[in-house]
Amino acid sequence: MHSPIICICICICTCTCGAPRYMDGVFAAATAKDWPEDRMHREYINVPEAEAWVNQPFKLKLKRSGRTFDVPTDSKTTEVLAAAGLGNDVKRRDVLCGVCATGYDAALSGEVAHRDCVLSKKDRQNKVILCCSRLLKVGVELVLDL
Ligand code: FES
Repeated sequence: MHSPIICICICICTCTCGAPRYMDGVFAAATAKDWPEDRMHREYINVPEAEAWVNQPFKLKLKRSGRTFDVPTDSKTTEVLAAAGLGNDVKRRDVLCGVCATGYDAALSGEVAHRDCVLSKKDRQNKVILCCSRLLKVGVELVLDL
């Protein structure tokens, strides 16, 4: 005698994977249905075409130790930390994996140019992807929760 199989699926988030245009369509439909933005996730197969960003140099400050560093236009934050012997987790350095996501103090930091493809708007309020994101303006600090 076989027991019946009952499958109950409660979907609390949507994760889309595919071409950017397809994912834009899924996100637009979900947004129109008032789906919370922080419950929608994109999975890119390839790095999407990036905007033409202009890098600005900025100051990096580590909140716990108070140490500061200059991040020049031709360096990434992950590279500056690694050069100081403070390497944080990195994987592919391709803006997609999210491994280098690090907490930052938005109240003490300048405006961040989030260049990643993994963080939600809500995540971006207190996390930054260090392998690609930078500050928008010169003369301000990025204060990391490190
Ligand atoms: S190392 Fe993968 S997003 Fe930064």
